[in-house]
Amino acid sequence: MAYVCSILLSAPKRLGAESVRLFHVSLERDSANRLKTFSVYRWNPDEPEKKPYMKDYHVDLNNCGPMVLDALLKIKNEIDPTLTFRRSCREGICGSCAMNIGGTNTLACISSIDQNVNKVTKIYPLPHMYIVKDLVPDMNNFYTQYKSIKPWLQREDKKKTGGQQYLQSVEDRKKLDGLYECILCACCSTSCPSYWWNGDKYLGPAVLMQAYRWIIDSRDDATVNRLEKLKDPYSVYRCHTILNCTKTCPKGLNPGRAVAEIKKLLANISQKGKPGLDAVPS
Ligand code: SF4
Ligand code: SF4
Ligand code: FES
Repeated sequence: MAYVCSILLSAPKRLGAESVRLFHVSLERDSANRLKTFSVYRWNPDEPEKKPYMKDYHVDLNNCGPMVLDALLKIKNEIDPTLTFRRSCREGICGSCAMNIGGTNTLACISSIDQNVNKVTKIYPLPHMYIVKDLVPDMNNFYTQYKSIKPWLQREDKKKTGGQQYLQSVEDRKKLDGLYECILCACCSTSCPSYWWNGDKYLGPAVLMQAYRWIIDSRDDATVNRLEKLKDPYSVYRCHTILNCTKTCPKGLNPGRAVAEIKKLLANISQKGKPGLDAVPS
């Protein structure tokens, strides 16, 4: 509406009633031309006899926010309240709106709608996951795997919480950059062919990147145990460096590199090295 008003206000003053009417007609025609089709995967566990199917929704892009999540919310609010998907932050922070949009695993809230109205945008849940409903994948296996790497600081000399901070040099802290930013959306793991075929035993790039984040943390004392737990033929070694993971990460991170760094540590090609600062000064 603000757009319409600004056009009308900037129109020459001598425009008569007929010209204004023509403005409206042409804007309405534009609006009709901006209908975009979203073809969305649907499956309802309450109707188990019905196979999954794709349902088309037509959204007026003139009346919709710029992101795919905006279109999904518009569909849910105005067309079909049964459409089910996860979302929370709409800022690319929580990771809950991860899905496959136009063939790429990404976050719906930071994924711009393809403005070509002649092209259908297809939306599926993250690939090769069990589905709870529609675009909602079952993340239980993913979270169990995440828990298995003990994603917290492990110290031999545990201090009372709040009693003393653990120190870290600036250089050691820098080693965590590009790792701690991961939002665990699982876009990378579910784009990894090795994870598709061995998701029960192979940890996948997202979880392995977090394993590496704790392995190289200068304050962590459990490095040997952490690496020992990854030594079996599946946990890490199913990675064949295909790098789909890095290509798809919506946060621009490089989980493929983290997996490669773990392999180097396991093969003794590289070492963690001594901390630049004692975490607890004597
Ligand atoms: S590495 Fe990227 S794609 Fe993988 S879980 Fe983290 S944020 Fe998501
Ligand atoms: S590099 Fe490894 S983890 Fe990444 S997609 Fe390829 S096989 Fe999967
Ligand atoms: S809604 Fe949180 S990342 Fe998209």
